[in-house]
Amino acid sequence: MTEPFITIRELRKSFAMGRETVHALAGVDVEIERNSFSMIMGPSGSGKSTLLYLLGGLDRPTGGRIRVAGQELEELDENALAVYRRRTVGFIFQSFNLIASMTALENVAFPMRFMGVPRRRRQQRALSLLAQVGLADRAGHKPTELSGGQQQRVAVARALVNDPHLILADEPTGNLDSASGHGIMQLLSELHHGGRTVVVVTHEPRMARFATRAVHLLDGRIVTEAEYNAAMLALDAAPEH
Ligand SMILES: Nc1ncnc2c1ncn2[C@@H]1O[C@H](COP(=O)(O)OP(=O)(O)O)[C@@H](O)[C@H]1O
Ligand SMILES: [Mg+2]
Repeated sequence: MTEPFITIRELRKSFAMGRETVHALAGVDVEIERNSFSMIMGPSGSGKSTLLYLLGGLDRPTGGRIRVAGQELEELDENALAVYRRRTVGFIFQSFNLIASMTALENVAFPMRFMGVPRRRRQQRALSLLAQVGLADRAGHKPTELSGGQQQRVAVARALVNDPHLILADEPTGNLDSASGHGIMQLLSELHHGGRTVVVVTHEPRMARFATRAVHLLDGRIVTEAEYNAAMLALDAAPEH
């Protein structure tokens, strides 16, 4: 049997907050297959973003390990980790993180500056990526001249500049109305069908149908769907306080 694309073992991440220690991830074990579309579900504070950031090499764990395509992330020094982020991972955030003074085209082209891509080539590639996300006619618009859904499409195009295999999205529909959110999930679904591995974090259960599997997180631990549903029901039933 071939090994999974991603293997996560005993993953821990703690943050010191004054005299307290917050255990954002308290021992997570999970495998993610190549070309899968995984949905990481959990209520606010359950450790979803922490898990995604560690997987994307944006931060280092307190303990445990992450293996991606046969490579242990902990064995990578800062430079090698930066190469991993650049070559393998495309990130999409809830708040789009576009540069306000730049047009859609410039936002998508910008990361390619640091890869030594000539200017003309950058523009061509940015335009073709904008076309891929359905925004060819908005290339000259600045973020404030675009709807939330369009801004997130620009962010998706930008995440694709390096043709990364792994797409990580942290609540990508969290700031969008349901129609735009649906469009973004469909776009991520297309990337998955195009051969990429997609991992999306959400606390919206109705997004689960786009994924090939769901991972449920509660208090920094993976739980079964039954345990998760029971906990969510208990939360709903709890009196207001
Ligand atoms: N940089 C940080 N410093 C201190 N505590 C943090 C930090 N990042 C996350 N946490 C804490 O870790 C827990 C999990 O956070 P997070 O992964 O952001 O959850 P989620 O994305 O599921 O809402 C929360 O209790 C949060 O307050
Ligand atoms: Mg989060």
